[in-house]
Amino acid sequence: MSSTAIIGIGELVTCDGTDPDLLGIRSNAALVAEDGMIAWIGPAADVPAADTKIDVDRRVIIPGFVDSHSHLVFAGDRGAEFAARMTGQPYDGGGIGVTVAATRAASDEELTGLLAARIDELHTLGTTTIEIKSGYGLTVGDEVRALRIARQFTAETTFLGAHVIPAEYARDRAHYVDLVAGPMLQAAAPYARWIDVFCEPHSPHAFDAEEARVVLSAGADAGLALRVHGNQLGPGPGVQLAVELGAATVDHCTYLDDDDVDALAAVAESTVATLLPGVEFCTHSPYPDAARLLSAGVAIALATDCNPGTCYSSSMPWVISLAVREMGLTPAQALYAATAGSAKSLRRTDIGRLVVGNRADLTVLDAPSYLHLAYRPGVPIARALSLSASGETPAA
Ligand code: NIG
Ligand code: FE
Repeated sequence: MSSTAIIGIGELVTCDGTDPDLLGIRSNAALVAEDGMIAWIGPAADVPAADTKIDVDRRVIIPGFVDSHSHLVFAGDRGAEFAARMTGQPYDGGGIGVTVAATRAASDEELTGLLAARIDELHTLGTTTIEIKSGYGLTVGDEVRALRIARQFTAETTFLGAHVIPAEYARDRAHYVDLVAGPMLQAAAPYARWIDVFCEPHSPHAFDAEEARVVLSAGADAGLALRVHGNQLGPGPGVQLAVELGAATVDHCTYLDDDDVDALAAVAESTVATLLPGVEFCTHSPYPDAARLLSAGVAIALATDCNPGTCYSSSMPWVISLAVREMGLTPAQALYAATAGSAKSLRRTDIGRLVVGNRADLTVLDAPSYLHLAYRPGVPIARALSLSASGETPAA
């Protein structure tokens, strides 16, 4: 057993309540971790003896960010697509095929190396738990490969064979849906905790409500829990489908009508609306009104959606600053959504909050207060200080 005491904490943000406005901030507090778990939190004057002491010199300690939505297993580059979009080209998901081709052509070693570098990057930005989707393989072998590689880095892996209809099935959508819901799912399920679908009638490449229902229902039958990409490019059925099928989260929620908001509020205990403001930023889309969601009683999370098409950033601090500036959240609500809220979208209670018994996944802010996350956009003030064995939950 090895123990570490964190002392000299200027502000300890625990996120230990259920109210996003109350971050559970403690001053003059210390924290002791034992074997990667939080063993003690209390007044600094009473800190028990520990094998190692880390003095953070009046910096802020927050729960490590939980990034509950990413697509990090890919090769290739779509910088030119981004540049075209900034001069007016709309996003419709068609660029995903470019990444699929580059990813299929990459070796296992290349993909693993690219993913490892991206994981290092997000740790340096303060993220300690990452969800990773497949979805740039779209064959049985390539989807399984992506999940197998992702599984080396996180237990939160998501099968996204239903990302887009691959070019070779463009005239035969039904057969691709059968493949995803049948043999591809059976092969992928041992490597995935979740299944996700890009449910988007506004994209010719993505899946309509009935196709999405077939895939998600098959995933549930195979023992996977559900996530949904919904309401990204326009109003659509994604939110209602996610609620109906008991998904843990519906992500994007860029275009919501009153019925969508009411439906999400009614299931706030079990289904989260995950907001991805980096996508709105990088696709010139309108930002959803997060304040409206909170006041209606919807549970929200924030994540990056880091991917080569709609948001090539793994920075949760940047996402927080966007959510505050553009989506009507207070800095406290945004930080809560990026930690405890995002953990809820992964149905995890052991992360996202600093309480005794939880994982000691800590992030240090080089700042006098958590407000600086939104107040100093683009400045690298956050870094992960994970005291748990690997910084990630080991794969089951
Ligand atoms: O979440 N919407 C679908 N998938 C990603 C984008 C993937 C890509 O363009 O490569 C998203 O925005
Ligand atoms: Fe996504």
